[in-house]
Amino acid sequence: MTRIGILLSGRGSNFVAIAEAIQRANNEADATSALRNARISIVISNRADAPGIAAARSRGLPSAVIEARGRTRAEHDAEILTCLQEHQVELICLAGYMRLLSPAFVRAYPQRILNIHPSLLPAFPGLDAQRQALNYGVAITGCTVHFVDEELDHGVIVLQRAVPVLENDEETSLSARILEQEHRAYPEALERVLSGRYEIAGRRYVLRNRDEASTPPELKKCNS
Ligand code: GAR
Repeated sequence: MTRIGILLSGRGSNFVAIAEAIQRANNEADATSALRNARISIVISNRADAPGIAAARSRGLPSAVIEARGRTRAEHDAEILTCLQEHQVELICLAGYMRLLSPAFVRAYPQRILNIHPSLLPAFPGLDAQRQALNYGVAITGCTVHFVDEELDHGVIVLQRAVPVLENDEETSLSARILEQEHRAYPEALERVLSGRYEIAGRRYVLRNRDEASTPPELKKCNS
């Protein structure tokens, strides 16, 4: 069983997509799905009014609000780390968590923090990635699930999904179509990571055959 911690700041639709995928994997008796071995142990938000926290509560999942106000980034991150460790979290999913993590936080979970970003990285890192893509005039954008390292939107890419930009797209329409792909991409990436069927070679995430999987699947140790 891999214990997952979710960090979010807002709506939480990616968190819900992950929670539903885990539930589906368990209901469908799909013995091959690595998501069957995952459990969301804690959902943490830096904002008390985040709809994602209400969604966690309504699903009966443990949740915590840890606000940043009045604390340094290091203090805030240390408090979140303590909470994650209290819940024995092994893998963290950032799901619309709109704060930078301190280097100490990232080092506490090497290759154990995933993030989703609404662009095809390395294009358009940072805020308002969908607006950046529109303003730049690209024909194709999308979303990226990647491991988190100490640089912004920079770690090893696990999976990307492309989304065409349509002629009359506005930020809201483009964001909605990217979000649809995010909801597929995050569970799929999580499944890949939990399966253990991969290696990290430099910046490349390399999938291995099912036969080469470690049994039982376990999170790969950081080998970079
Ligand atoms: C998603 O579009 C996610 O990719 C983005 O915030 C949104 C959160 O939506 N994250 C970032 O921009 C991180 N740099 P959600 O709260 O409904 O999952």
